[in-house]
Amino acid sequence: MTLVTWNPAWETGIQLIDAQHRQLMMQFDALLVAVHENRANERLPGLVAFLSDYVETHFSTEEERMQATQYPGFAEHKAIHDDMRAQVLNLAGDSQIDPSIMTEKVINYLTDWLIDHINEQDRRLARHLVRFGAGESRKSL
Ligand SMILES: [Fe+2]
Repeated sequence: MTLVTWNPAWETGIQLIDAQHRQLMMQFDALLVAVHENRANERLPGLVAFLSDYVETHFSTEEERMQATQYPGFAEHKAIHDDMRAQVLNLAGDSQIDPSIMTEKVINYLTDWLIDHINEQDRRLARHLVRFGAGESRKSL
């Protein structure tokens, strides 16, 4: 069962970043399926643990690219990442709260990320990386 499928509009054209975004989307889909099957409680601890690692790996990937290409929006984009890192820390520290509230918080967090952040900040960054060249074509980035 799949509830969310990859939307080509989310593609940045940067292969590594897109692969990481797809991985995030699959986690989001698995959570929605778990909610649908009434077993979100089982899924949450693993998902929050995943997100704790993922924000570090994924945001670092993007920030390294920004720094390597003198991205003018670096400070703004990094501040947003830092806020998202802090939100994951809060989620990880909130393990005692009601699972249904926790589920809602995680769904809101991932929706904002997948819909807003990827569509706006990450695509703006991708346009810069493609323009900059960065030694990578759209297909091989
Ligand atoms: Fe980003």
